Amino acid sequence: GAEAGGSPSGTQFTAVAPNKEDAVVIPDGYEQAVVIRWGEPLFADAPAFDFDRQTPQAQERQFGFNNDFAGLLPIEGQPNTFLLVCNHEYTTEPFMFKGYDAENPTLEQFQVAVTAHGLSVVQVQGESGSGKLTPAFGQYNRRITANSEFVVTGPAAGSDLLKTAADPTGTKVIGTLNNCSGGVTPWGTVLSGEENFNQYFGNYDKVGDQTAKDRLKRYGFVDGASERKWERFDRRFDLEQEPNEANRFGYVVEVDPWDPASTPIKHTALGRFKHEAATIHITDDGTVVAYSGDDEKFDYMYKFVSSKKMQPGTGQASMRHNMTLLDAGTLYVARLTGNEPSKIDGSGTVPSDNGFSGTGEWLPILKTNEDGKGESFVDGMSAEEVAVFTRLAGDKVGATKMDRPEDFETNPKTGKVYVALTNNDKRGTEGKAPADEANPRNTNKNGQVLEITDEHAGTKFTWTLLLVCGDPQAADTYFSGFDKTKVSPISCPDNLAFDDYGNLWISTDGNALKSNDGLFSVVLEGPNRGETKQFLSVPKGAETCGPIISDARVTVCVQHPGEEDDASADNPASHWPDGGDSQPRPSVVAVWKSGGGRIGV
Ligand code: FEO
Ligand code: CA
Ligand code: CA
Ligand code: CA
Repeated sequence: GAEAGGSPSGTQFTAVAPNKEDAVVIPDGYEQAVVIRWGEPLFADAPAFDFDRQTPQAQERQFGFNNDFAGLLPIEGQPNTFLLVCNHEYTTEPFMFKGYDAENPTLEQFQVAVTAHGLSVVQVQGESGSGKLTPAFGQYNRRITANSEFVVTGPAAGSDLLKTAADPTGTKVIGTLNNCSGGVTPWGTVLSGEENFNQYFGNYDKVGDQTAKDRLKRYGFVDGASERKWERFDRRFDLEQEPNEANRFGYVVEVDPWDPASTPIKHTALGRFKHEAATIHITDDGTVVAYSGDDEKFDYMYKFVSSKKMQPGTGQASMRHNMTLLDAGTLYVARLTGNEPSKIDGSGTVPSDNGFSGTGEWLPILKTNEDGKGESFVDGMSAEEVAVFTRLAGDKVGATKMDRPEDFETNPKTGKVYVALTNNDKRGTEGKAPADEANPRNTNKNGQVLEITDEHAGTKFTWTLLLVCGDPQAADTYFSGFDKTKVSPISCPDNLAFDDYGNLWISTDGNALKSNDGLFSVVLEGPNRGETKQFLSVPKGAETCGPIISDARVTVCVQHPGEEDDASADNPASHWPDGGDSQPRPSVVAVWKSGGGRIGV
């Protein structure tokens, strides 16, 4: 229907209705195909996937598990050919192995899980007349796993806090873990956020040093055995033996996908927390601003502003320079102030006039100089300590406790910055921070989306809530004043993306409205601001992530299909994508308009 668009930047597809299908459901007039599944070979010599006989040797040459972030980088000189770069966030062993015994995992299961983590780089080929993408054994194909070597840069590189028996230099880390979302940089690399790294380490209760123990506590480590029991197989996951190993995870990772032999970087100047992702905005003078959320209930929003400028071009000299941009600059944490506190009346009602809004300030916590040395802005903490125990720095300077900051994305048309605040069911509960204007609901199950007008390289901003998510019929939801009878229900915003026309696209994780997660478009400018429409839904138990919106296709990651209570490989809750009695497999999917044409209109 042409009238649904209204503004020139709007969308005009027919919204998908909430559902519980074991399928990717797309609008009428669109087609879809799987791009790549967990276990598909990335190299000519890699074995075909065999669910019942998976090995670590096979897995480290195959596409990893639980694809979250996806980036598509065009290959110069090869039309319609891209590098697909994906994060593999975590493993769910009961879905990967029949008869899995959670109390007694085997060495081989541990090794498969380690190699199913990390990232994949895989060449994909488009075709004319459709949005289909087909994987190829390209020269850039690569697996990075929890066994791959990383170099540490920034103020924590070489710090005593990062030294272990295996790495007395404190600069060389084996592995990356829990890579959730990320971003493609304008200079052609990929950033990946190490998120819930705490879950891989056991024996917190046996850490001897009380200071170390207190610092670990702020990151949520737990007593005794870890869920996967990795500490039984490798001392690096045993906090009793290697209390510093955990200090080597929780960073923003940068990968140069154009050089399969390159050593990926952990940038400590951006701080250590549960990085959902990192996304880049470049100011007019070439300054790099990297935004990143700490995805935990009551944790903080951060940005890093570079002191160096980006060099244009993709040649080797530019790449070498640009891969140091995140090693010199200032790290800030956000404090927000509402401008009409009286609007929080405890009823959960959202004002329909102009919603909630206010001002904000970026508080500097750490400056990293070009020689790699840091300066702390936090009383009682050294620069190394701010880089490694960044949450404690945020606590000390009085940053604002948010409802789980997930993805940031900057609108390429307006420069406004958007943040998904996914949910926080502990808001306002006993002993916890109560609702405020930026986090306006107690026991917040559905989340909200914040719109920031930022100085980017400066320290001041204003903000407003774009969406207060949930059932549009409920009084506690808000769609920027758009007619709530004409929007899709939306819950638990997680990843954000923009199309080339300034429309925001939101993928969800954890839908609290009892239907499947999905991908939604939101109009931001003009009379239809706030118009929210569901473009697709993912199979039951899955989350939607990694959306990439181009004219030719929507690319989404379908993560953990069938992840429902009591489900396992012995009792699968989903048979997506292959149907019949097959095991569910996390996969990347492309969706395009039948017969071609621009997505969304
Ligand atoms: Fe892995 Fe914050 O989602
Ligand atoms: Ca995820
Ligand atoms: Ca996420
Ligand atoms: Ca999430």
